[in-house]
Amino acid sequence: MRKVVIDCDTGTDDAIAILAAAGCPGLEILGITCVNGNVMEKYVAKNNLDLCEYIGLEVPVCHGAVSPLYSEYHNSQDMTHGLTGLGSIELPSAKHHSFDSRTASRFLYETAKACGGELELLVTGPMTNIALAIIQYPEFSHLIRRLYFMGGAVFGGNVSTTAEFNIWVDPEAAHAVFQSGIPMTMVGLDVTLKAIMQKEDIEQLRLRDTRESRLAADLLDYMSVRFLNGGENVIMHDALALAAMMFPECMKYEDYWVDVETSGDYTRGHTYADIRQRSGREANMSCAMKLDVPSFRSWLVRRISQSGN
Ligand code: BDR
Ligand code: CA
Repeated sequence: MRKVVIDCDTGTDDAIAILAAAGCPGLEILGITCVNGNVMEKYVAKNNLDLCEYIGLEVPVCHGAVSPLYSEYHNSQDMTHGLTGLGSIELPSAKHHSFDSRTASRFLYETAKACGGELELLVTGPMTNIALAIIQYPEFSHLIRRLYFMGGAVFGGNVSTTAEFNIWVDPEAAHAVFQSGIPMTMVGLDVTLKAIMQKEDIEQLRLRDTRESRLAADLLDYMSVRFLNGGENVIMHDALALAAMMFPECMKYEDYWVDVETSGDYTRGHTYADIRQRSGREANMSCAMKLDVPSFRSWLVRRISQSGN
């Protein structure tokens, strides 16, 4: 069994990634850590706790960073994920599941230590919790087998011309993580903007008719309406980072040295990938550059359909 902690800012597409992760054979979810991002951390944490109870995922859920490492961030009101993060979906409040008393960074460290170098991380929000674990526990970076993250882009951005949201929220944290020596895979906008679910995927999930597949279909329906109203499409940014981990064959990767622009009037949060190898530095990550969209979509539907079994 591969072991993973999911660090996320749930978030509609984070929720889909969790539903799919719970349906991956050979993957054991050891915990969920919450970070400020799509919505305030208190909403992220509630979403994760409610979601875990709703799908019977009995794992620790830990509170995490409520703001970026050194800067300020006020959650946007652009409503991509609705007011509290799950669009128009209201899950029943968890009655039995309560928060783990540890902070995200402490939980990450203790779990990494207990796994003796085997722990993998799936990061689908700003990297503040991971950076805190690196800063607070110098041993932490050496204990992580691999980190898969949704964030950044070799080419382009979504918050600005050159910055992707997760990195843009906390560039200093991403910089610390990128320079930590942890082996990592970046799943950025180069591929995620292509990972768009279609009406037939939603229909298949509805046909499957499990608690998990119905919830996923509701989330995808919310995203479809959002798109019709001029918002973001039904894009599976975060589930694609899970695919890099559990179904890597659906993407093609290039190894690059990547760093984050932490200053700049226009480019803060830009992930600079040394594609022409001018820096003389060794690659620090593998970057997903091409995606086989149909294989990814059917894999995702299968994983969600397996969730809860
Ligand atoms: C990322 O930002 C959030 O809106 C999504 O959950 C995803 O992690 C895409 O830029
Ligand atoms: Ca996210």
